[in-house]
Amino acid sequence: MIKVRVPATSANMGPGFDTLGIAFNLYNEFEFSEDTKEIKFYGFKEEYSNEDNIVYKAMKACFDKCNYKPKGLKIALIKEEIPISRGLGSSSTCIVAGLLGANQIMGNPLSIEELFKIGVEIEGHPDNIAPAFFGGMVVSIVENKNVFYNKIDVKEGISFVALIPDFELSTSLARKVLPTDVGFKEAIYNISRVSLMISAFANGKYELLKYSCKDAMHEKYRSHLIKNYDLVYSKCISLGALSCFLSGAGPTIMAIIKSNDEDIVDNIKSFFYYEDISWDVKEFCIDNWGAMVY
Ligand code: HSE
Repeated sequence: MIKVRVPATSANMGPGFDTLGIAFNLYNEFEFSEDTKEIKFYGFKEEYSNEDNIVYKAMKACFDKCNYKPKGLKIALIKEEIPISRGLGSSSTCIVAGLLGANQIMGNPLSIEELFKIGVEIEGHPDNIAPAFFGGMVVSIVENKNVFYNKIDVKEGISFVALIPDFELSTSLARKVLPTDVGFKEAIYNISRVSLMISAFANGKYELLKYSCKDAMHEKYRSHLIKNYDLVYSKCISLGALSCFLSGAGPTIMAIIKSNDEDIVDNIKSFFYYEDISWDVKEFCIDNWGAMVY
Protein backbone atom coordinates (compact mmCIF):
# COMPACT_ATOMS: atom_id res chain seq x y z
CA MET A 1 0.00 0.00 0.00
CA ILE A 2 1.33 3.43 -0.96
CA LYS A 3 0.56 6.33 1.39
CA VAL A 4 0.85 10.00 0.44
CA ARG A 5 0.52 12.99 2.79
CA VAL A 6 0.03 16.49 1.32
CA PRO A 7 -0.05 19.79 3.24
CA ALA A 8 -2.66 22.55 3.15
CA THR A 9 -1.62 25.61 1.21
CA SER A 10 -2.52 29.25 0.99
CA ALA A 11 -2.18 30.83 -2.45
CA ASN A 12 -1.71 34.47 -3.52
CA MET A 13 -0.66 35.69 -0.03
CA GLY A 14 -2.10 39.12 -0.85
CA PRO A 15 -0.29 40.71 -3.79
CA GLY A 16 1.14 37.49 -5.31
CA PHE A 17 -1.90 36.54 -7.40
CA ASP A 18 -1.44 33.13 -9.12
CA THR A 19 2.26 33.29 -8.13
CA LEU A 20 2.93 32.97 -4.40
CA GLY A 21 1.91 30.19 -2.05
CA ILE A 22 2.82 28.68 1.31
CA ALA A 23 2.37 25.25 2.92
CA PHE A 24 1.08 24.66 6.46
CA ASN A 25 1.06 21.86 9.01
CA LEU A 26 -2.44 20.63 8.23
CA TYR A 27 -2.72 17.54 6.03
CA ASN A 28 -4.78 15.25 3.85
CA GLU A 29 -3.60 11.65 3.55
CA PHE A 30 -4.29 9.16 0.79
CA GLU A 31 -3.64 5.48 0.15
CA PHE A 32 -3.15 3.81 -3.23
CA SER A 33 -2.74 0.31 -4.57
CA GLU A 34 -3.12 -1.54 -7.83
CA ASP A 35 -4.08 -4.95 -6.38
CA THR A 36 -7.63 -5.06 -7.70
CA LYS A 37 -9.29 -5.50 -11.09
CA GLU A 38 -11.55 -2.44 -10.87
CA ILE A 39 -11.32 1.18 -9.77
CA LYS A 40 -12.47 1.51 -6.17
CA PHE A 41 -12.84 4.65 -4.07
CA TYR A 42 -12.82 4.75 -0.27
CA GLY A 43 -13.36 7.67 2.10
CA PHE A 44 -14.78 10.04 -0.53
CA LYS A 45 -18.32 11.36 -0.62
CA GLU A 46 -20.64 9.43 -2.94
CA GLU A 47 -20.55 12.19 -5.58
CA TYR A 48 -16.74 11.95 -5.81
CA SER A 49 -16.57 8.15 -5.85
CA ASN A 50 -16.35 7.82 -9.61
CA GLU A 51 -14.00 8.61 -12.49
CA ASP A 52 -14.68 12.35 -12.15
CA ASN A 53 -12.73 12.19 -8.89
CA ILE A 54 -9.84 14.67 -9.17
CA VAL A 55 -7.36 12.25 -7.55
CA TYR A 56 -8.21 9.69 -10.22
CA LYS A 57 -7.97 12.32 -13.00
CA ALA A 58 -4.46 13.25 -11.82
CA MET A 59 -3.45 9.57 -11.71
CA LYS A 60 -4.83 9.02 -15.20
CA ALA A 61 -2.89 12.01 -16.57
CA CYS A 62 0.27 10.42 -15.18
CA PHE A 63 -0.51 6.93 -16.46
CA ASP A 64 -1.41 8.28 -19.92
CA LYS A 65 1.86 10.20 -20.12
CA CYS A 66 3.75 6.96 -19.57
CA ASN A 67 1.37 4.75 -21.61
CA TYR A 68 0.77 2.69 -18.47
CA LYS A 69 -2.43 0.68 -18.04
CA PRO A 70 -3.10 -0.12 -14.38
CA LYS A 71 -4.83 -3.44 -13.72
CA GLY A 72 -7.20 -1.70 -11.32
CA LEU A 73 -6.90 0.91 -8.59
CA LYS A 74 -7.75 1.43 -4.95
CA ILE A 75 -7.88 5.13 -4.16
CA ALA A 76 -8.57 6.02 -0.53
CA LEU A 77 -8.79 9.29 1.37
CA ILE A 78 -7.66 8.14 4.82
CA LYS A 79 -7.32 11.46 6.65
CA GLU A 80 -9.02 14.73 5.75
CA GLU A 81 -7.93 17.62 7.95
CA ILE A 82 -8.32 20.33 5.30
CA PRO A 83 -11.82 21.74 4.83
CA ILE A 84 -12.97 21.86 1.19
CA SER A 85 -13.64 25.03 -0.80
CA ARG A 86 -12.19 27.28 1.91
CA GLY A 87 -9.07 28.53 0.09
CA LEU A 88 -6.74 26.07 1.83
CA GLY A 89 -5.67 24.02 -1.17
CA SER A 90 -7.77 20.92 -0.57
CA SER A 91 -8.12 20.18 -4.32
CA SER A 92 -4.37 20.60 -4.81
CA THR A 93 -3.77 17.91 -2.19
CA CYS A 94 -5.91 15.56 -4.34
CA ILE A 95 -3.97 16.39 -7.52
CA VAL A 96 -0.53 16.14 -5.91
CA ALA A 97 -1.40 12.89 -4.10
CA GLY A 98 -2.82 11.36 -7.30
CA LEU A 99 0.32 12.26 -9.25
CA LEU A 100 2.70 10.93 -6.61
CA GLY A 101 0.60 7.79 -6.05
CA ALA A 102 0.44 6.99 -9.79
CA ASN A 103 4.15 7.63 -10.25
CA GLN A 104 4.95 5.33 -7.32
CA ILE A 105 2.70 2.58 -8.75
CA MET A 106 4.64 2.80 -12.04
CA GLY A 107 8.04 2.65 -10.26
CA ASN A 108 8.69 6.41 -10.39
CA PRO A 109 9.42 7.01 -14.09
CA LEU A 110 8.63 10.73 -13.81
CA SER A 111 10.69 13.35 -11.96
CA ILE A 112 9.05 15.60 -9.38
CA GLU A 113 9.47 18.50 -11.84
CA GLU A 114 7.52 16.57 -14.50
CA LEU A 115 4.79 15.78 -11.98
CA PHE A 116 4.69 19.45 -10.95
CA LYS A 117 4.14 20.45 -14.57
CA ILE A 118 1.25 17.99 -15.00
CA GLY A 119 -0.27 19.21 -11.72
CA VAL A 120 -0.17 22.83 -12.84
CA GLU A 121 -1.81 21.90 -16.16
CA ILE A 122 -4.65 20.23 -14.26
CA GLU A 123 -5.12 23.02 -11.69
CA GLY A 124 -4.61 25.88 -14.16
CA HIS A 125 -2.29 27.92 -11.93
CA PRO A 126 0.80 26.94 -9.92
CA ASP A 127 0.45 28.78 -6.60
CA ASN A 128 -1.14 25.96 -4.54
CA ILE A 129 0.46 23.04 -6.39
CA ALA A 130 4.02 24.36 -5.87
CA PRO A 131 3.96 24.59 -2.04
CA ALA A 132 1.90 21.37 -1.84
CA PHE A 133 4.75 19.56 -3.64
CA PHE A 134 7.78 21.36 -2.26
CA GLY A 135 6.65 22.82 1.09
CA GLY A 136 7.56 26.25 2.47
CA MET A 137 6.85 29.54 0.74
CA VAL A 138 7.22 29.22 -3.02
CA VAL A 139 7.23 31.61 -5.97
CA SER A 140 6.10 29.88 -9.16
CA ILE A 141 5.45 30.91 -12.74
CA VAL A 142 4.30 29.40 -16.02
CA GLU A 143 6.31 30.35 -19.11
CA ASN A 144 5.39 28.83 -22.49
CA LYS A 145 3.75 25.85 -20.75
CA ASN A 146 6.89 25.29 -18.65
CA VAL A 147 6.81 25.85 -14.90
CA PHE A 148 9.53 27.40 -12.76
CA TYR A 149 9.64 27.81 -9.02
CA ASN A 150 11.87 28.99 -6.21
CA LYS A 151 11.50 28.50 -2.45
CA ILE A 152 11.98 31.42 -0.09
CA ASP A 153 13.92 30.75 3.06
CA VAL A 154 11.42 32.34 5.48
CA LYS A 155 13.02 33.81 8.62
CA GLU A 156 11.62 32.70 11.97
CA GLY A 157 9.39 34.88 14.11
CA ILE A 158 5.91 34.57 12.60
CA SER A 159 2.90 32.25 12.69
CA PHE A 160 -0.26 32.14 10.64
CA VAL A 161 -3.81 32.13 11.96
CA ALA A 162 -6.49 30.85 9.59
CA LEU A 163 -9.94 32.33 10.10
CA ILE A 164 -12.10 29.77 8.35
CA PRO A 165 -15.71 30.69 7.56
CA ASP A 166 -18.53 28.19 8.05
CA PHE A 167 -19.41 28.38 4.34
CA GLU A 168 -17.75 27.29 1.10
CA LEU A 169 -16.66 29.46 -1.83
CA SER A 170 -15.74 27.79 -5.10
CA THR A 171 -12.61 28.99 -6.87
CA SER A 172 -14.46 29.12 -10.19
CA LEU A 173 -17.04 31.52 -8.75
CA ALA A 174 -14.32 33.58 -7.04
CA ARG A 175 -12.45 33.87 -10.37
CA LYS A 176 -15.60 34.92 -12.24
CA VAL A 177 -15.92 38.13 -10.20
CA LEU A 178 -12.44 39.31 -11.23
CA PRO A 179 -11.99 41.93 -13.95
CA THR A 180 -10.52 40.80 -17.28
CA ASP A 181 -7.97 43.63 -17.36
CA VAL A 182 -5.74 45.29 -14.78
CA GLY A 183 -4.74 48.95 -14.96
CA PHE A 184 -1.14 50.18 -14.92
CA LYS A 185 -1.67 51.68 -11.44
CA GLU A 186 -2.88 48.37 -9.97
CA ALA A 187 -0.04 46.49 -11.67
CA ILE A 188 2.57 48.80 -10.10
CA TYR A 189 0.79 48.60 -6.74
CA ASN A 190 1.03 44.80 -6.70
CA ILE A 191 4.52 44.45 -8.21
CA SER A 192 5.99 46.87 -5.66
CA ARG A 193 4.25 45.26 -2.71
CA VAL A 194 4.93 41.65 -3.61
CA SER A 195 8.62 42.47 -4.10
CA LEU A 196 8.85 44.23 -0.75
CA MET A 197 6.90 41.42 0.93
CA ILE A 198 9.15 38.64 -0.37
CA SER A 199 12.22 40.55 0.82
CA ALA A 200 10.57 40.97 4.25
CA PHE A 201 9.95 37.21 4.55
CA ALA A 202 13.52 36.51 3.48
CA ASN A 203 15.23 38.80 5.99
CA GLY A 204 12.65 38.86 8.77
CA LYS A 205 11.76 42.57 8.52
CA TYR A 206 8.21 41.69 9.44
CA GLU A 207 7.24 45.27 10.30
CA LEU A 208 7.12 45.78 6.50
CA LEU A 209 4.22 43.34 6.08
CA LYS A 210 1.81 46.04 7.21
CA TYR A 211 2.57 47.96 3.99
CA SER A 212 3.57 45.17 1.63
CA CYS A 213 1.02 42.41 2.20
CA LYS A 214 -1.64 44.37 0.31
CA ASP A 215 -3.40 43.71 -2.95
CA ALA A 216 -5.23 45.69 -5.63
CA MET A 217 -6.02 42.87 -8.06
CA HIS A 218 -8.42 40.40 -6.49
CA GLU A 219 -9.22 40.84 -2.78
CA LYS A 220 -11.52 43.84 -3.14
CA TYR A 221 -13.64 42.02 -5.74
CA ARG A 222 -13.83 38.81 -3.75
CA SER A 223 -14.44 40.42 -0.37
CA HIS A 224 -18.09 41.04 -1.38
CA LEU A 225 -18.62 37.28 -1.54
CA ILE A 226 -17.55 36.87 2.10
CA LYS A 227 -19.91 37.98 4.83
CA ASN A 228 -18.08 39.79 7.67
CA TYR A 229 -14.87 40.09 5.61
CA ASP A 230 -14.20 43.77 6.45
CA LEU A 231 -15.15 43.34 10.10
CA VAL A 232 -12.90 40.30 10.62
CA TYR A 233 -10.00 41.79 8.64
CA SER A 234 -9.98 45.12 10.50
CA LYS A 235 -10.47 43.49 13.92
CA CYS A 236 -7.46 41.20 13.40
CA ILE A 237 -5.30 44.20 12.51
CA SER A 238 -6.53 46.13 15.56
CA LEU A 239 -5.78 43.09 17.77
CA GLY A 240 -2.16 43.15 16.60
CA ALA A 241 -1.89 41.01 13.46
CA LEU A 242 1.06 42.07 11.31
CA SER A 243 -1.15 41.76 8.26
CA CYS A 244 -4.00 39.72 6.77
CA PHE A 245 -4.64 38.31 3.33
CA LEU A 246 -7.33 36.33 1.59
CA SER A 247 -6.18 32.72 1.50
CA GLY A 248 -6.28 31.66 -2.16
CA ALA A 249 -9.65 32.51 -3.62
CA GLY A 250 -11.13 32.63 -0.10
CA PRO A 251 -13.25 32.56 1.92
CA THR A 252 -10.57 31.96 4.60
CA ILE A 253 -8.75 35.05 5.84
CA MET A 254 -5.16 34.42 6.92
CA ALA A 255 -3.67 36.59 9.65
CA ILE A 256 0.11 36.77 10.01
CA ILE A 257 1.10 37.22 13.65
CA LYS A 258 4.31 37.45 15.66
CA SER A 259 5.12 33.96 17.03
CA ASN A 260 5.46 35.38 20.53
CA ASP A 261 2.04 37.09 20.47
CA GLU A 262 0.35 34.76 22.95
CA ASP A 263 -2.94 36.66 23.27
CA ILE A 264 -4.11 37.27 19.74
CA VAL A 265 -5.62 33.85 19.01
CA ASP A 266 -7.71 33.91 22.20
CA ASN A 267 -8.71 37.51 21.51
CA ILE A 268 -9.89 36.63 17.99
CA LYS A 269 -11.88 33.68 19.39
CA SER A 270 -13.54 35.94 22.00
CA PHE A 271 -14.35 38.49 19.31
CA PHE A 272 -16.03 35.78 17.20
CA TYR A 273 -17.95 34.58 20.23
CA TYR A 274 -19.30 38.03 21.12
CA GLU A 275 -20.10 38.91 17.50
CA ASP A 276 -21.75 35.52 16.99
CA ILE A 277 -19.45 34.70 14.06
CA SER A 278 -19.09 30.94 13.88
CA TRP A 279 -15.78 30.76 12.02
CA ASP A 280 -13.07 28.29 12.93
CA VAL A 281 -9.71 29.66 14.18
CA LYS A 282 -6.59 27.55 13.56
CA GLU A 283 -2.98 28.54 14.20
CA PHE A 284 -0.46 27.11 11.72
CA CYS A 285 3.24 26.97 11.26
CA ILE A 286 4.96 26.57 7.91
CA ASP A 287 5.41 23.02 6.57
CA ASN A 288 8.85 23.06 4.95
CA TRP A 289 8.80 19.52 3.56
CA GLY A 290 5.81 19.39 1.26
CA ALA A 291 4.20 16.19 0.02
CA MET A 292 5.56 12.91 1.36
CA VAL A 293 5.26 9.35 0.05
CA TYR A 294 5.71 6.64 2.67
N1 HSE B 1 -4.55 31.97 -7.44
C1 HSE B 1 -5.79 31.27 -7.36
C2 HSE B 1 -6.92 32.28 -7.31
C3 HSE B 1 -5.79 30.43 -6.10
O1 HSE B 1 -6.80 33.24 -6.58
O2 HSE B 1 -7.92 32.12 -8.01
C4 HSE B 1 -7.05 29.67 -5.89
O3 HSE B 1 -6.98 28.40 -6.40
